Amino acid sequence: MIKVIRAKDYEEMSRKAAAVMAAQIISKEDTVLGLATGSTPEGLYANLVKAYQAGNLDFSKVRTVNLDEYQGLPREHDQSYYYFMNYHLFQHVNMAADANNLPNGMNEDIQAECERYHGVIESMGGVDMQLLGIGGNGHIGFNEPSDHFEQKTHCLALAEDTIKANSRFFASEDEVPRRAFSMGIGEIMAAKKILMVANGKGKAQAVKDMLTGPVTPQVPASILQFHPDVVLVADEDALSLL
Ligand code: GLP
Repeated sequence: MIKVIRAKDYEEMSRKAAAVMAAQIISKEDTVLGLATGSTPEGLYANLVKAYQAGNLDFSKVRTVNLDEYQGLPREHDQSYYYFMNYHLFQHVNMAADANNLPNGMNEDIQAECERYHGVIESMGGVDMQLLGIGGNGHIGFNEPSDHFEQKTHCLALAEDTIKANSRFFASEDEVPRRAFSMGIGEIMAAKKILMVANGKGKAQAVKDMLTGPVTPQVPASILQFHPDVVLVADEDALSLL
């Protein structure tokens, strides 16, 4: 079931979504968070940092596992998802040094990396709350539109529209990595709760298809219709086609 929470704009979406995540951390201090990157959750992370600085959140027992990482980008690269997470969240709060997990985009043994990361997710005993953005093409993590749902962490070729969309962060489209490691749909669906954030007109069609269309791997996010506990916090623009 997908519960929709409306927000008037990006700021309100970020505050409301941060409140949902903060409530999770307060009610279970050793929460396992599944985390996401992209422009959409930046405001959510900023609000969590603010709540931490105000003394309202304690991350000392929280552990995290991120959705995805570009293949071939070292952690120090300013477009790696490891860098993003440190920049927006990890370095600002009191998480333990070994609390954060991301796929290692530099592991040349792809099979071994996928198996290692699946093991990491399993070893955490289940994700309590998984944060998701949504791609304009309906992707979640880097699970691109496809003829089947991938169960576990895998390494995949990014869709052309994703490479174009993400080129805004790189000097040119040529520099966008062509492949990425991503949690699989099965691993995402195993999270106890899912919190999705979406804003802007560019997401309106994907949000509509996710909520009202058939469940199909051509719209990977549509599988969330089968999850028992999904909260979507979206702004007016993202909900404008409903
Ligand atoms: C990226 C990420 C996704 C993210 C999506 C949307 O490529 N792999 O996890 O949700 O695309 O990004 P944005 O929030 O910047 O629109």
